Amino acid sequence: MAKVVSDFVRVASTSEIPEGKMKKVLVGSQQVLVSNVKGKYYAIGNVCTHLGGPLDRGVLEGREVQCPLHGSRFDVTSGEVKRGPATRPEPVYDIKVEAGSVLVRSK
Ligand code: FES
Repeated sequence: MAKVVSDFVRVASTSEIPEGKMKKVLVGSQQVLVSNVKGKYYAIGNVCTHLGGPLDRGVLEGREVQCPLHGSRFDVTSGEVKRGPATRPEPVYDIKVEAGSVLVRSK
């Protein structure tokens, strides 16, 4: 059976997410957090793996986002947990920039 290849979806213009900022976007039904760290864009899940906190309402410091609910921290470049109580990493999404648009690939 042929493998289904997911497509990249345009989620924002680059000007909507300046350096040091982040934004929640929807890719299909998935909530994704797009971050701009030093001019590079990254995409991980926006729903905290602890108890579902909205990471886009938290704080981005360098490459770490802190969940607003109980303070878990995730590396936005790898999805890795840097501080609990969360223990499971966030999913990482493929992302690219084309002609001033940010595109994320659905899973
Ligand atoms: S829901 Fe994010 S740390 Fe608890």
